[in-house]
Amino acid sequence: MLTAEQNKLLTDVSVGSPLSGYWKQHWIPALRSEALEVDGAPTRVELLCEHYVAFRTTDGTVGFLNEACPHRGVSLALGRNENNALTCIFHGWQMNAKGDCVHMPTEETNTLCSKVPRTGYPVREAGGIVWVYLGGGEVPQFNDFQFTQVAPKHVRARASYNNSNWSQNVETLLDSAHIALLHADTTYDKDVPQEGMQLSSGNHVPRYSFDKKPYGLRSYSERDQPDGSVYLRVTEFVAPGIAFIGTTSAEAAFAIMVVPVNNTKTLGWFVFWDERDDINNRLPEFLMIGTDASDDDFAASRVGKAGDLMASQDREAMRRGETWTGIKGVIFEDYVLAESMPIVDRTKEFLGSGDVAIVRLRRELLSRISDYQAGRTLPEHSENIDYRALRSLAEILPENNVDIRAFTDEKEAERRATFNSSQTDKGQDANVV
Ligand code: FES
Ligand SMILES: [Fe+2]
Repeated sequence: MLTAEQNKLLTDVSVGSPLSGYWKQHWIPALRSEALEVDGAPTRVELLCEHYVAFRTTDGTVGFLNEACPHRGVSLALGRNENNALTCIFHGWQMNAKGDCVHMPTEETNTLCSKVPRTGYPVREAGGIVWVYLGGGEVPQFNDFQFTQVAPKHVRARASYNNSNWSQNVETLLDSAHIALLHADTTYDKDVPQEGMQLSSGNHVPRYSFDKKPYGLRSYSERDQPDGSVYLRVTEFVAPGIAFIGTTSAEAAFAIMVVPVNNTKTLGWFVFWDERDDINNRLPEFLMIGTDASDDDFAASRVGKAGDLMASQDREAMRRGETWTGIKGVIFEDYVLAESMPIVDRTKEFLGSGDVAIVRLRRELLSRISDYQAGRTLPEHSENIDYRALRSLAEILPENNVDIRAFTDEKEAERRATFNSSQTDKGQDANVV
């Protein structure tokens, strides 16, 4: 249970809030690279309750600017995108990709341009995603996650939106206990091709343990199996909103990124990558169920999205015993639940031992928000964090006396070694504006 003040700190991303300020200290995955065409229509983007416009110029550079024209505030989403500039259709002011005004037809000369404050932000393209840094001051190092380094054919980033606060979306990522309950249709289904996840079936009380990390938190959950082995899932949480979710080494790696659009809307990224193969040959089928083909918003057409929660459920199928939730698709089971309580009032919760991961996550986030408020360097900005080697685990340990920390560290070291020796086809475009 939290105090009302703590709950606000974790949920309120209004302009000027501590949470918004903290979020702005990070590179934020904003939209797909492919959503922006050279000289194409600008795209409106909302992040942290503020409005922006993204566009790709004639030379391929991405611009990410405040949506409001610096002249008199009309939307630059209506602007003309041509000749390496975005031109406001009201009085023709032109902004380049950096957000500098470069032409002012309403003045005799362009000399006033240099007085207009820059309205653009640093941008980086990697992993098929346009990332933006919205904070002022020194731009932090870009996190070199493995999926931002591999060639485009090895990575697929799928975006989607749901109508709920980011906090409950991120909490679900560390809530291992719900896997075999909410997602029972999938975890009990031995025909769905996925390795390991079925081993959570029937065991709703995993043993949790945690390691605090500079980047966030490492969360271990262990489930004893009837044959004496242990099913270990390790989730790596990277503050503020990224979780690397456990997959076996035979499967593609997988991360979910949660970004606050506003207080009741969340952008959820599902990123898959596999350095061994074309990623489209390795997508986990159970995470595609019910999703739209579009990677710009694969949740656009789902049933019940327009606020009609009950419409999400197929009560007839539930009655027939075919489904636990009546909701189609693992991802949408999570989304519908998040949307059922757009901003959770955490002063009224009743937590048990199964919620220990959530408690740890909140403590971690509150501590980092407090670091931000006090002007301290954020732990996730410490030097020497090797983000490339981060990947979660889902493994069967032959017996229950394995040192899970040593085991996880060993796996990470192995990955780092393999990655270092096989990283020959770097090909991701990575231009910083
Ligand atoms: S409002 Fe954009 S040029 Fe005047
Ligand atoms: Fe879930």
